[in-house]
Amino acid sequence: MRALVYHGPGQKAWEEKAMPTLLEDTDAIVHIDAVTICGTDLHILKGDVPAVTSGRTLGHEAVGTVESVGAGVKNVKVGDRVLVSCITACGACRFCREGRYGQCLGGGGWILGHKIDGTQAEYVRVPFADTSTYTVPAGVSDEQVLMLADILPTGYEVGVLNGRVQPGDVVAVVGVGPIGLSTIMGARLFSPSHVVAIDLADSRLEAAKEFGADVTVNNGREDALRAVQELTGGLGADVAIEAVGVPATFELAAQLVRPGGHVANVGVHGEAAALHLEDFWIRDLTITTGLVDTYSTPTLLRLISGHEIDAGHFVTHRFTLDAFEEAYEVFGHPTETGALKVVLTSEE
Ligand SMILES: NC(=O)c1ccc[n+]([C@@H]2O[C@H](COP(=O)([O-])OP(=O)(O)OC[C@H]3O[C@@H](n4cnc5c(N)ncnc54)[C@H](O)[C@@H]3O)[C@@H](O)[C@H]2O)c1
Ligand SMILES: [Zn+2]
Ligand SMILES: [Zn+2]
Repeated sequence: MRALVYHGPGQKAWEEKAMPTLLEDTDAIVHIDAVTICGTDLHILKGDVPAVTSGRTLGHEAVGTVESVGAGVKNVKVGDRVLVSCITACGACRFCREGRYGQCLGGGGWILGHKIDGTQAEYVRVPFADTSTYTVPAGVSDEQVLMLADILPTGYEVGVLNGRVQPGDVVAVVGVGPIGLSTIMGARLFSPSHVVAIDLADSRLEAAKEFGADVTVNNGREDALRAVQELTGGLGADVAIEAVGVPATFELAAQLVRPGGHVANVGVHGEAAALHLEDFWIRDLTITTGLVDTYSTPTLLRLISGHEIDAGHFVTHRFTLDAFEEAYEVFGHPTETGALKVVLTSEE
């Protein structure tokens, strides 16, 4: 088979690789029908994730068809169409029993395309298949479901639910890439009065309007704090969601909320950000952090089936699997290409 293989910082190739085989009796082998690229894959290629070593197949998001299962797999059958999620769950450890699959202690968590070979290939081995895949409901497209492998549960769980968005809230989203846009999609389910999208890129702010932002602020040109204060009579937003991952955006998100408000950090940070306790202590702020657990995947699948959310809206570019290198180029240059999510499908 062929796979997109990492060969150290800046180097990758779509190349021949041995077919994965069942290693544990709880494994499944899944034929990839549709797969996408994540911003995290770009971080890996920059060398920011040293746990990923040369020879690793990248990718942690896919929809596919089950090719074979181990003797211990009970619910997943050969021929089933399944979502392969970014988080693998052993289902039995303390954190899995609490629904915190991202923190799995039994060999799961974020392992695909990280610690074991991932989904950017013709076939993938999925450990703990019963608790790490989701049956795709009839009548929904691969593209829609593919958005549930990572971005939608991340935005919904770590942004919207951790941020406790309530009806009537003013919700400020700092950074409206695919993750920020998915927080807007998720926040709208709770009827906020206003969603304010803040980004440096006008193309992303245009996308935010399409996803339901009421107000957009380019904080390269405009003062985001003043814009939010004007909208809220000087009080600040009820919820601020950080979806970039740099100190300046976390610090801005914390400034934007009213007393008693929630700051939900979603961005992956590589350096320290200032936490101004000298200002915050008296303002009753709640600040949350989180790695996605994907406990909301069944809920999001029902919302897609019921046409309450249109996850296909994220897909801006489509390729076949053999065009993986071109797909990385397009996804890696969103300012020029307007890319949000790219989808690659097998030709069979
Ligand atoms: N917590 C989790 O479980 C989890 C899961 C997946 C991704 N993430 C993280 O979420 C973050 C967003 O992911 P993405 O794929 O949308 O990334 P992205 O790079 O596509 O989007 C980030 C957006 O932030 C904007 N931006 C950059 N600097 C800014 C600034 N100073 N002010 C305002 N906007 C600014 C960019 O223009 C871009 O539109 C990343 O840090 C990613 O690693 C977290
Ligand atoms: Zn990802
Ligand atoms: Zn576990």
